[in-house]
Amino acid sequence: MSPLAAATRVLVTGGAGFIGSHVVEALLARNVAVTVLDDFSSGHETNVPDDPRVRVVRGDAADHDPVADAMDGCTHVVHLAAIASVERSMNDPIGTHRSNLVATLQVLERCRVVGIERLVYASSAAVYGNAQLPPVTESGPLSPSTPYAIDKLAGESYLRFYEHTYGVPSIALRFFNVYGPRQVSDSPYSGVISLFMRRAAEGAAVTIHGDGLQTRDFVYVGDVAATITACIELEGTPTSTIMNLGSGTPTNLLELLDAIEDVCGTRVERTFAAPRPGDVRHSVADVTRLRENVRQIPVTTLMTGLRSLESVHRRVE
Ligand SMILES: NC(=O)c1ccc[n+]([C@@H]2O[C@H](COP(=O)([O-])OP(=O)(O)OC[C@H]3O[C@@H](n4cnc5c(N)ncnc54)[C@H](O)[C@@H]3O)[C@@H](O)[C@H]2O)c1
Repeated sequence: MSPLAAATRVLVTGGAGFIGSHVVEALLARNVAVTVLDDFSSGHETNVPDDPRVRVVRGDAADHDPVADAMDGCTHVVHLAAIASVERSMNDPIGTHRSNLVATLQVLERCRVVGIERLVYASSAAVYGNAQLPPVTESGPLSPSTPYAIDKLAGESYLRFYEHTYGVPSIALRFFNVYGPRQVSDSPYSGVISLFMRRAAEGAAVTIHGDGLQTRDFVYVGDVAATITACIELEGTPTSTIMNLGSGTPTNLLELLDAIEDVCGTRVERTFAAPRPGDVRHSVADVTRLRENVRQIPVTTLMTGLRSLESVHRRVE
């Protein structure tokens, strides 16, 4: 890994969102200038650091003009803009397709025109569906079973096409369950940790869909931002350009609740409901490729991550 040249400017699409805002902070901490492209559909202005090195373009990443404007002067791109909800994609496959695939194609096309040095793309563990027993490997079978997962996988295919045909270098990271500060907790599409933490803080019951023994790979957002920054800084072409980004540790929902109770010092009542359509049973990453190619693998334990989240909740109250 090398220090980036002074002329580096990174476009972060979705930079006003949960993960994007942490990526922006991580880049600024490395003294890299940033342009944010966001339509603020789920992102917030308050998430974007007030810093002279940040330029903000408000617009839809599926449209030509805002993408062309935002990419002006940029050397690298982190493409995170999307409607990050499996459930919403099932209720509105056409509406979400625009943000989840058309935007990726629009960004790639501009990367080709501009001659971008590297694009880092937010794919998802959703592309695996229930196809593999955990830990899942990138070379194993895929079974995208929702419009969200299908769009993410199609995005990876477009990345490959643009790399092979036009030489646009790219890395696709298959994020597992990302959690941490600034993840919204007040929407039906929120991540399970932010939802459970909020319920614990309110003293309210949590609803577990299924038996609670389904496992997830929870990865701390600070680790995700560090890995993305490392991908931007990576010298040469990695041997694999599609990599899992998870902690490599499985946690079932009942264990997660126990950990939240420990951290918050409260007891959380559990109610059980029918499993949600499209939910996968087990999801844990094999992170060998990430370790070998980027050497920046997640290190934050679930307890450490939950404690940092709990202290943020306490400061906000
Ligand atoms: N959070 C997770 O656990 C997780 C897991 C797998 C993949 N991902 C992917 O990571 C990325 C970031 O997710 P997040 O959790 O930070 O979600 P988020 O909703 O907080 O961030 C998405 C951002 O994109 C913006 N956006 C949406 N559609 C847009 C459009 N058409 N044009 C411009 N901006 C648009 C939103 O306003 C928001 O700021 C997404 O691509 C998501 O699919 C997230």
